[in-house]
Parts: sequence; C-alpha cells; structure tokens
Amino acid sequence: MTDPSRNIVRHEGAISRRDRERLLGQRGCVVWFTGLSGSGKSTVSRVVEEQLTAAGRLVYVLDGDNVRHGLCADLGFSDADRTENIRRIGHVAGLMADTGAIVLTAFISPFRADRQQVRDVVGDDDFLEVYVDAPLAVCESRDPKGLYKKARAGEIPEFTGVSSPYEPPESPTVHLKTGDLSLDECAAEVRATLERGGFFSPPTSAS
Ligand code: ADX
Repeated sequence: MTDPSRNIVRHEGAISRRDRERLLGQRGCVVWFTGLSGSGKSTVSRVVEEQLTAAGRLVYVLDGDNVRHGLCADLGFSDADRTENIRRIGHVAGLMADTGAIVLTAFISPFRADRQQVRDVVGDDDFLEVYVDAPLAVCESRDPKGLYKKARAGEIPEFTGVSSPYEPPESPTVHLKTGDLSLDECAAEVRATLERGGFFSPPTSAS
C-alpha cells in the first residue's frame, strides 16, 4: 500500500512469508489470549510455549507485564492507553507471525473493538482468539500479584474487573474455563486447535 500524502511506499523483498513458513515447516499465526488479570493467560501460554518448543516449533510469547516495561512503557491503564497498547502489540505480533513464528500473546485486552482491530491487522485466518475465562471471584482469590487487594483498597485506579470493564469475546476460537480444567487440559486444547488449523504443517504450493 502506498500513501502519497506521506511519501511512504511499501517495499516487498523477494522472499515471501510462504518461503519462511516452508523453511520452518509451520504456519505463522497469532494466538491471542484474553482474560482478566490472574485468569491464567501467562501460565497457559508459557506451558504451550514449552510444549511447542520441545516439539520443534518456533514459538514466542509476548506478555503484558514484559511489554509494558519496554515497547509500551509510556502507557498506563486508561481506556485510550489500553487501546494503544493493544494496537502496538497487534502490529508487532502480526510482523512476528509474518516471520513464520507461532506468536502467543497474553494481554488482558479488555475491549472487543481493540481485539477486532488486531484480527483485522493479522488477518482472519491467522488470528486465534483464546478466552481465558475465570470468574472475577476466582481471579481475586488467586491474586498472585496482590493487585486486586490494592485495587479494592483504592490504591490502583481503573483496575480491570474492579473499576474498569472487561468485555468477554462473543465467539472465541477457544474458550478455556481455567477454573474447571487443569493446566495440561488447557494447553492441550490450544495445541489441538493449532493442529486442526494446519499451523503445524508447512504451506502447500497452492496456499
Ligand atoms: S491491557 O488492559 O492493556 O491489555 P496488560 O495485559 O497490558 O493490560 O497489563 C495487565 C497487567 O498490568 C496486569 O496483569 C497487572 O499485573 C498490571 N496492572 C497494573 N495496573 C493495572 C490496572 N489498572 N488494570 C489491570 N492491570 C493492571
């Protein structure tokens, strides 16, 4: 795409995404975990990462707490900052998927419209939404970082589920009820979905 008003012209090299995917023997994609803080997004994505790496796949986890130390260090938790957070990560994840990698992302990403925007950037076929679904009460009882306690005490404003909204996906690719399933079962569901989607096979010459 060319934008004449800004003198920016897209430039494609001779090597295509399909070339890279054939090299790796897999299909690039973005597995987008969404859910409340403490729902299990990071935990499940890390287990999937370990299992896929052991199986010889190129996989990478982009994680909320880590990205917010660097790429998005300038952003807070207002609605607008969360939207910008997800926009940036969506583009990074899309570029990484273009390398042929299986990219797992673990962000609350509370707004449907923001997740839809990422889907539009990445492309429908290569975007898998995983709803990590644990009731607020369960997340709050886990409170691994002690943040819910602080949020209830009024020490953290705009805390998701407490004083800032979370919009659950309406038709996620995978719906994990982490309160009912074991960690292994959650990871197995994600792996099975990737397998069914053909992401563990190289693209054919027709694709
Ligand atoms: S998102 O809403 O923009 O997607 P993101 O996933 O990057 O959020 O960051 C969430 C993490 O930041 C939480 O797991 C928690 O550790 C921390 N955090 C700090 N303040 C807040 C807040 N107000 N709301 C939610 N999470 C917060």
